[in-house]
Amino acid sequence: MQGRAVYIKTFGCQMNEHDSERMLGILESKGFIEVDEPKHADIIIFNTCAIREKAEQKFMSSLGRVKYLKKKNPELKIIISGCIAQLQSEHLLNKAPYINYIIGPDNLHILANIAENELPQKVFTHENTDMANIELPAVRKTLVKAWVNIIYGCNNYCAYCIVPYTRGRERSRPMERIIEEVKALVEQGYKEITLLGQNVNSYKDKEVDFPALLEEVNKIEGIERIRFVTSHPKDLSQRLIKTMKDCNKVCEHIHLPLQAGSNKILKLMNRKYTYEEYFEKVNLLRESIPDISITSDIIVGFPQETDKDFEKTLNALIEIQFDGIFAFKFSMRPGTTAANLDGHISNDIKTKRLSTILNIQDEITERKNKSLEGTIQEVLIEGKDEDGLIIGRTKTNKIVKISSELQRGKVFKVKITKANRHTLEGNVL
Ligand code: SAH
Ligand code: SF4
Ligand code: F3S
Repeated sequence: MQGRAVYIKTFGCQMNEHDSERMLGILESKGFIEVDEPKHADIIIFNTCAIREKAEQKFMSSLGRVKYLKKKNPELKIIISGCIAQLQSEHLLNKAPYINYIIGPDNLHILANIAENELPQKVFTHENTDMANIELPAVRKTLVKAWVNIIYGCNNYCAYCIVPYTRGRERSRPMERIIEEVKALVEQGYKEITLLGQNVNSYKDKEVDFPALLEEVNKIEGIERIRFVTSHPKDLSQRLIKTMKDCNKVCEHIHLPLQAGSNKILKLMNRKYTYEEYFEKVNLLRESIPDISITSDIIVGFPQETDKDFEKTLNALIEIQFDGIFAFKFSMRPGTTAANLDGHISNDIKTKRLSTILNIQDEITERKNKSLEGTIQEVLIEGKDEDGLIIGRTKTNKIVKISSELQRGKVFKVKITKANRHTLEGNVL
């Protein structure tokens, strides 16, 4: 291959974002540079997401838009990776025969080969049980914060969710590798590490479980902050709460997806906890770590969700007072158990429920943020926003905008002067 330019577009979650960083790492080691327009690329990668229908549609229209480039330049390689690639290789090749390669999330390493050679095989979606032992380089676009994989796949089979089918079974990465990577990141100047997994709480490397891993990472000198996503509520143990409290670098924030407030719906979702159990964990978290911020995910319009069930979700939001939520309309994913349930909810009702939820939560978020006015927060400076304001985050993961020049990667004490719905404003002390 002559040209060495890659264009990559990423859909989906932080896992996928990080997979893109790894793919760029592989290609950079082969002499590629990233370009920001498909028309300048020799390789185009779409790193896809299958979590909801909308994510699929977005990708399909992007794919359609590059077809003409392939006609202009037959040497161009179009590669589809990520969760749609894993599930729908045949369908994709039928629909878009101009695709060169399809790579599932377990097979990113094959890209090194693709970059150098024409391969006879197009589809690389086989299960890779050894994945947790394969080390891949990464090109991180962020300067202060870095993602680090600790566990791949998911064993939970929540009834609505496609991830266990796209990312395979849980496999934990050996602790030594994680520690090595974090140390190297610290040497490069990174200050904040986010440990990544679909369910970090089930991390297990021989005797080392997730709290033990957190303790080890917390010992590494030079890290300012440690975060992790995502925690499954059923696996949030008292020991983990204690570890979060005791480890000074672990931030006072947890993303703990509730999904629904009705026990009937939680059961249908196969979440394996009741609302009462969830609420008890929230209380334990708040007793141990008083300033902790708690965020969540909510799905509205799961099959068989009645007005009464939905009300329970509203009541949960009011009772818990999350710092923020991501809320989604249930999207039927073929092959999941929820797809076969009776009682699917109309899109109109889902739309109404979503907007009710978002309105209520907006008020809660705003009120919570307002309560921070006048307080002093430790803010890690990340960079600038589009308007040139300095932007950083509190340990509780709230965005703060500051109008003085401050060095990226440093922590400052900031007095919060104003709270908006999604951001805070403040002055350096
Ligand atoms: N592993 C994480 C994240 C999974 S995907 C976890 O367990 O929390 C992120 C969020 O997408 C989920 O928490 C859920 O709220 C939402 N989601 C997943 N599948 C969905 C579907 N079929 N329809 C709507 N929302 C969905
Ligand atoms: Fe999906 Fe549930 Fe696994 Fe999260 S824990 S990835 S929601 S199956
Ligand atoms: Fe999407 Fe796959 Fe992540 S389905 S949300 S990219 S794990």
